[in-house]
Amino acid sequence: MTIAFFSCHPYEQPFLEAANANHRHQLTFLPQLLTPETVHLAASHDAICVFVNDQLTGPTLQRLASEGIRLVALRCTGYNQVDIPTARQLGIRILRVPTYSPHSVAEHAVALLMALNRKTHLAYQRTRKNNFTLDGLMGFDLYGKRVGVIGTGKIGMMFSRIMLGFGCHVLAYDKVRSAILQQLGVEYLPMEDVLASSDIISLHCPLTPETHHLINEASLAQMKPGAYLINTSRGGLMDARAVVEALKSGQLGALGMDVYELEDDFFFADWSGQELPDAELNTLTHLPNVLVTSHQFFFTAEAMEQIAHTTLNNLTYLEQQRLPDDCLVVG
Ligand code: NAI
Repeated sequence: MTIAFFSCHPYEQPFLEAANANHRHQLTFLPQLLTPETVHLAASHDAICVFVNDQLTGPTLQRLASEGIRLVALRCTGYNQVDIPTARQLGIRILRVPTYSPHSVAEHAVALLMALNRKTHLAYQRTRKNNFTLDGLMGFDLYGKRVGVIGTGKIGMMFSRIMLGFGCHVLAYDKVRSAILQQLGVEYLPMEDVLASSDIISLHCPLTPETHHLINEASLAQMKPGAYLINTSRGGLMDARAVVEALKSGQLGALGMDVYELEDDFFFADWSGQELPDAELNTLTHLPNVLVTSHQFFFTAEAMEQIAHTTLNNLTYLEQQRLPDDCLVVG
């Protein structure tokens, strides 16, 4: 089939081409984000393939349907960017990559935590300028600290195991408790207790109407003063305005974020030398106790290979009517 890949960066193309070797689909690589203004580029393809910040809103789906597109492959796991009722109503099938190296995400969460704690991002800037002083760089031992994990699915489980390896006491909140994690010593508690008792909180639950702004003024006030927050899941889990206030007051000790609620305006683009027209993101990128990375948790060679492989397989399996259920968002 012919497939238009939106938001496709040069670093992705070799992985997609390699994965396509066995399938021989015709691939068109487009750097553009899918928007109502760029949707016409889908014309004359059988399917499109999109990433996390391509918005499959009602009007865009309508345009896709009018171009004859009935198949959208997401090369990501989450599908909160899709207007599912409209896709269903228009008969547009939506496929996803149900899993890819959960290690890549969990390890990135740990990288953010380690850098913030030991201030390696600040030390790096200093030593580059021949400043070898230590003032302001003191961290703490992770050993013995309480780490709260919200959502203990594939990624939360990996992250919990790594934290247990550091000798941390892992507290968790999830509607579904993992017997494996409990056997390893993870303690499940109500969300308020996880927030109140943890030195570090890491978010690993999906973005749903229920979890939207899970971290808000009220939940931030419930946290231990000076707690660290790590968000590698979805930007919409945090109310950025409340988080900025909590960082300024010291209620939140540090923030590591790889996702931002309004990231599609900024992430994956070069804004060097320009003032960001977003007050919260501007503040967050400048605070010394905040480390922002731009949705790079998936960016390991292993994860890229798996994403490309599953995406191309999904399209072929759909043609052959043997697509696994967990790959189908809208059937
Ligand atoms: P998963 O589906 O294996 O785990 C999600 C967990 O969150 C489940 O255990 C679920 O019960 C729990 N959960 C659902 N609602 C909750 C709530 N209100 N409070 C607490 N826990 C709740 O998903 P996985 O793979 O671990 O990914 C987690 C999230 O990370 C994804 O939804 C996505 O937003 C993000 N993500 C996932 C990637 C991946 O490769 N799997 C890549 C990048 C981001």
